[in-house]
Amino acid sequence: MRIVPDDQPVTYDDVVTMDKIVSLCKRRGFVFPSSEIYGGLGSSYDYGHYGVLLKNNIRAQWWRAMLQERDDIVALDSAIIQHPETWRASGHLAGFTDPLVDCRTCKLRFRADHIDQSACGRKPSKHPGETPECDLTEARDFNLMFQTTIGPVQEEGSTVYLRPETAQGIFLNFKNYLQFSRKRPPFGIAQIGKSFRNEITTGNFIFRMREFEQMEMEFFVPPDDAAKWHQHWLAGRMKWWTDLGLRPDHLRLRPHEADELSHYSSATSDVEYLFPIGWSELEGIANRGDFDLTQHAKFSGQKLEYVDTATGERYVPHVIEPAAGADRAMLAFIVDAYDEDEIEGESRTVLRLHPLLAPVKVAVLPLVRKDGQPELATEVYRDLRERVQAEYDEGGAIGRRYRRQDEIGTPWAVTIDHQSLEDRTVTLRDRDSLSQVRIAIEDLGEEIELRLRQPWHSPKLGNG
Ligand code: GAP
Repeated sequence: MRIVPDDQPVTYDDVVTMDKIVSLCKRRGFVFPSSEIYGGLGSSYDYGHYGVLLKNNIRAQWWRAMLQERDDIVALDSAIIQHPETWRASGHLAGFTDPLVDCRTCKLRFRADHIDQSACGRKPSKHPGETPECDLTEARDFNLMFQTTIGPVQEEGSTVYLRPETAQGIFLNFKNYLQFSRKRPPFGIAQIGKSFRNEITTGNFIFRMREFEQMEMEFFVPPDDAAKWHQHWLAGRMKWWTDLGLRPDHLRLRPHEADELSHYSSATSDVEYLFPIGWSELEGIANRGDFDLTQHAKFSGQKLEYVDTATGERYVPHVIEPAAGADRAMLAFIVDAYDEDEIEGESRTVLRLHPLLAPVKVAVLPLVRKDGQPELATEVYRDLRERVQAEYDEGGAIGRRYRRQDEIGTPWAVTIDHQSLEDRTVTLRDRDSLSQVRIAIEDLGEEIELRLRQPWHSPKLGNG
């Protein structure tokens, strides 16, 4: 496990830039700015067809690691709007704030602790407060939770909040899970779902949004074992990211300084990825102690503890929480996969995604749109789509069709040509090595499934 201190110099010698990613995502239907025909809505994005497929694959791999590959974690899908007491107990009503200053002159609002990274509204080359016209207010705390009301009348008692994290739904259900799941610590409850934060510092595409998706797991352990399980999850989560192809030299674990720790945490390390914007958080892995269960027990009046019926031992479990963002994960996988190269003098853009994550696994392309090739290609396509996400494309020059599949990260392309009609063989092209092998149609499905099960490493490894 690599633990790199925060002062490691940032080097970025990759061809990828955030602008290229934003443009590819729009051009190829991964991500669109939300409400675009009305001029967009700050930091909200819509996922297009390939974005949906890619994010589904990320979620599926996370569920696989949590549920299928272990027998000590169970799943939950809790409500987005929870009892408002949840947020008093969790500390979010009092403490989930950013300090803000307003400028009375330009009417812009800035995070008080990010003034030196913000641009003055009138003179963008200066920071707020640096010109004589700037007229900044004192810093005031601004709560990041979105409020709404339950029921038709806007009265005080009915104020509720859109959850700013999925974690609290897990703590609220702790008692249900002890009863129904026949689990005892150490065990975990995992959840994927939308969270909402009225973020002040936005930008950087889907890195920081006001509506985003989290993949969180709360792992309940005997108090004395918390430090050991924290180490277990630090190693386990780093392995998940690298197994799915993120280059190890673009990934690091950064332990939080004491003054960075959240109010609930005694130790947190962030998994950080080297994005084009610099090292930034992908996932936080916190030791939350017994903070949450103790707080909810206090506010709800319910006992939230584990009792061993055989020995009579009782305790409030401590919690280790790996909390990742699904959208940030998608951004990191796309950034890591983005590459440019040249084929026979022509430049191409290619997403070298792990095949398990690739939105489409195989494209089926007749060389020409005649001589029975489309018919045979359709037959091959119908057979393959029973096994994996496949796509059929018969329009345009074959080179352009390959380029299109390369840009969405399709690892394999099957080409049907005149020989295919004679001997029922096709060529199977590899996105990264560009190798083409001839293979019998009847072996194709099995070959693709076999390749999907192989361990995979980014071909960019060693190239920065
Ligand atoms: N329950 C702990 C928790 O919510 P967090 O570090 O605030 O911790 C966990 O969030 C992960 O959620 C982050 O590592 C990040 O990947 C993702 N995330 C947080 N805020 C986000 C935002 N505004 N936009 C996109 N992803 C976000």
